Amino acid sequence: MTTLSIIEKLKTTHAATRDELIFLLDNLTDADREELRRAAQATARAHFGNKIYIRGLIEFSSVCKNDCLYCGLRRSNRRAVRYRLTEEQILSCCEKGYALGFRTFVLQGGEDGFFTDEVMCGVVRRIKSRFPDCALTLSLGERGEDSFQKLFDAGADRYLLRHETADASHYARLHPEGMTAQARQAQLYALKRIGFQTGAGFMVGSPFQTTANLADDLLFIKALSPQMCGIGPFIPHKDTPFFDKPQGSLTLTLTLLAVLRLMNPPLLLPATTALGTIHPKGREMGILYGANVVMPNLSPTEHRKDYALYDNKICTGDEAAECIRCLAARMQSIGYQIVTDRGDYRGDWQPL
Ligand code: 5AD
Ligand code: FES
Repeated sequence: MTTLSIIEKLKTTHAATRDELIFLLDNLTDADREELRRAAQATARAHFGNKIYIRGLIEFSSVCKNDCLYCGLRRSNRRAVRYRLTEEQILSCCEKGYALGFRTFVLQGGEDGFFTDEVMCGVVRRIKSRFPDCALTLSLGERGEDSFQKLFDAGADRYLLRHETADASHYARLHPEGMTAQARQAQLYALKRIGFQTGAGFMVGSPFQTTANLADDLLFIKALSPQMCGIGPFIPHKDTPFFDKPQGSLTLTLTLLAVLRLMNPPLLLPATTALGTIHPKGREMGILYGANVVMPNLSPTEHRKDYALYDNKICTGDEAAECIRCLAARMQSIGYQIVTDRGDYRGDWQPL
């Protein structure tokens, strides 16, 4: 087994065994990494050309009943400033976003009991009837199958629920008692079964993570075969139990983006805000390692800083219009172009 033979196998069969993935991640040379980048970028370009999809992210509630140990919005963080957008405010974010060319809106929030199925379905219906040509993505945490079905029936198209880590014992170390990897994964399978375009994902360099954990994450994504996968480096938040844990590595995050692209060629893969937070050119590098999506923030500027999952989050002072202009310029600087498009998953795509 050599790293090059594993990379070759990833390129041709889009698969690798657990042992191969562990060996690869543990033994990568700079030359290997460059080869991964080249191959992943070529694969992304074959599927998407130089087009980058944009998603307008609306962080509509910083209230969360959950207590994930890594997250700045965890219930136990008494210092977090809690806000909740009204339905009107959410719609006005969409309005602004639509004018700027967004055709996907992502409503993301903590697990906030105020947004019952009834309330949330109302929001979904209003957005879908006002913007029938847009896709609506929800990212509301775990809710249960009944709830997912209602949201889907109300018109939501996509759902993001990162699996965080596929390994049960690692999962237990990142989450409060009662949350399990098994439940999380069952929810993801339910979302897919219901018909959502589904997004999973994980943090890179989260506390206690091993190379074997990452190999299992890659295999979990391969098995679930979601339409989207969000990954970004773990970044400590000062008011969480993980305040003194080291942040995830840029290089490892980029490597995993490339491997994900090779294992799942049509996957919708964002260059995340967390990646942009740990390096000024992080998102650009993400694209060059095979990502094809960016998610600029459409949330009202006055609340941006309060949706603090981790410290030093970028773009907290910018208006939506500035954010999109900035990203368009960043993408252009590396030869890519953001497009006005729903950017649906197309697993049946033939490479261009
Ligand atoms: N660092 C990086 N990512 C984080 N997330 C939550 N907290 C952090 C952190 N400290 C990610 C989780 C979650 C998503 C919304 O943000 O993966 O699913
Ligand atoms: Fe609420 Fe993580 S603890 S989003």
